[in-house]
Amino acid sequence: SVANLKGLKQGQLRLAVITTAKYFIPRLLGPFCQLYPGIEISLQVTNHEKILERMVNNMDDLYIMSQVPENLDVICEPFLDNPLVVFAPVNHPLAKERNIPIESLTNEPFIMREPGSGTRRAVQQLFDEHRVKVKVKLELGSNEAIKQAIAGGLGISVLSRHTLMPDSSEFSILDVEHFPIKRTWYMVYPSGKQLSIVAHTYYEYLLEAAKKFVEESGFSAVSKGEDIND
Ligand code: PGA
Repeated sequence: SVANLKGLKQGQLRLAVITTAKYFIPRLLGPFCQLYPGIEISLQVTNHEKILERMVNNMDDLYIMSQVPENLDVICEPFLDNPLVVFAPVNHPLAKERNIPIESLTNEPFIMREPGSGTRRAVQQLFDEHRVKVKVKLELGSNEAIKQAIAGGLGISVLSRHTLMPDSSEFSILDVEHFPIKRTWYMVYPSGKQLSIVAHTYYEYLLEAAKKFVEESGFSAVSKGEDIND
């Protein structure tokens, strides 16, 4: 029976995911473990650069990241959009404005992720493109810490829309030109690697779960035809 087949799926699943996925992925692990009680999971949550290091050292079965490495031979599967948006405290003076020019951000104290963060890299790239120089007041190595700093009135920042979900009432998302920055989450693994049955099972499960999430939430599915390396 199907139940017996599921019982046969046993073993370890080692996942490593970028920090923006730290809400989405753990939430889905509950139902996955109920479905496959024989599977044991270890989950590492870290930034883009550290994920790359782990991949080079073959430390995990599957990786989730927003920027596919260009110099490594990998298999990658996009599964959900990861838009980056401008976070401000809920009562920020710009919260009610529309089409805020990107240059306005130079007047605001800015909170930036640490070097090695993919979010930081994407934000810096957009600012460089438009020759915008923000005043970085604070550098923090965690999305969660940045949210606390914003709520505490230290400044504004650019974070993944996915980090907002549990506590949206404390923040507003500013309507700034050229935002959201479009990014996508990918499942990635080295192309020379044969996925274990357990990893393959998770791979299929996550694709299905992401599809459901798109149907049930305001999130758009992955936009087709985008250059995955940009
Ligand atoms: P990071 O992850 O900022 O923690 O590196 C975000 C991403 O690359 O999407």
